[in-house]
Amino acid sequence: MPVVHATEEAIAKAAQALARGETVAFPTETVYGLGANACDAHAVAKVFAAKARPRFNPLIVHVPDLTAAETYAEFDATACKLAEAFWPGPLSLVLPKRPDSGIADLVTAGLDTIALRAPDHPVAQALLAEAKLPIAAPSANRSGRISPTMASHVEAELDDIPAMILDGGPCPLGIESTVVGVTGDAPVLLRLGAVPREAIEAVLGQALPLANEDAAIASPGQLERHYAPNTPLRLGATDVHTGEALLAFGPNAPQGAVASINLSASGDLEEAAASLFASLRQLDDTGAKAIAVMPIPTNGLGEAINDRLRRAAKAR
Ligand code: TXA
Ligand code: MG
Repeated sequence: MPVVHATEEAIAKAAQALARGETVAFPTETVYGLGANACDAHAVAKVFAAKARPRFNPLIVHVPDLTAAETYAEFDATACKLAEAFWPGPLSLVLPKRPDSGIADLVTAGLDTIALRAPDHPVAQALLAEAKLPIAAPSANRSGRISPTMASHVEAELDDIPAMILDGGPCPLGIESTVVGVTGDAPVLLRLGAVPREAIEAVLGQALPLANEDAAIASPGQLERHYAPNTPLRLGATDVHTGEALLAFGPNAPQGAVASINLSASGDLEEAAASLFASLRQLDDTGAKAIAVMPIPTNGLGEAINDRLRRAAKAR
């Protein structure tokens, strides 16, 4: 079994595996990533193969901090402001790639932009410090499936098992990073995620519109079938039909489901985000005919939670 506790020794071995061109799964504060040396095209190709990921969908490159990030991309004043406000943390910035970045073309799917983020997780930071490499890492799930928030999910997902899966426990935030494009024009929101839109707008002092699919800059990953459990989802449910499982939210969960998980009985959106993907996996495994999902508010993190649920409901 390649799952190992993320001890200092295991992290050192994982760093060596990355340097040898192998892949390593590791925890971040959002979800588990499947990492490879971003400068090694052959290693990056293994990531695409393990996930069965389309080659047009570029990867996020993980770096320790803003100084490291500036080696790979051009930061204008807006990009600096966002990195200073949110790094380390769950914000990915899509920026103009430096021509001398040394990043493999496969990582950016041939685009002249690159997505960068400095993760706020001790294991991810220790791995970056040991490896001294930029780490290209998509979520460690099969393409089109729910992102893993525990080491055991990773093992169940991938076509090719990575050299190591570093187990750092459940991911504290549980939803992927927010992706923002800052490529010269006004910044755009490319993917809703763990940093609420309002928090970014507060730093920018302006509205952050969601990019539409035909925008000049788009997030190719948003186009694909995504975040799908096998069981159909019924959103906005206030009751339970025969044979359904229930994904509840808040204090007034209806009775009668074949299985039931409450994302947050007190109605806390952070608590709900943290257990969203693991709960969907668990209910997906119950054999229920459908998963009834109670309404979830759309403020703060609720916007990203509703985005993922909509995609999961549409994906079949
Ligand atoms: O929280 C996260 O972001 C996790 C952890 C592991 O860091 N990673 C993650 O990676 O969710 P992934 O590959 O599943 O999603 C990356 C998203 C995709 O929607 C992709 O299309 C977009 O970022 N992206 C990457 N590079 C881009 C670029 N140059 N331009 C536009 N979108 C880009
Ligand atoms: Mg993903």
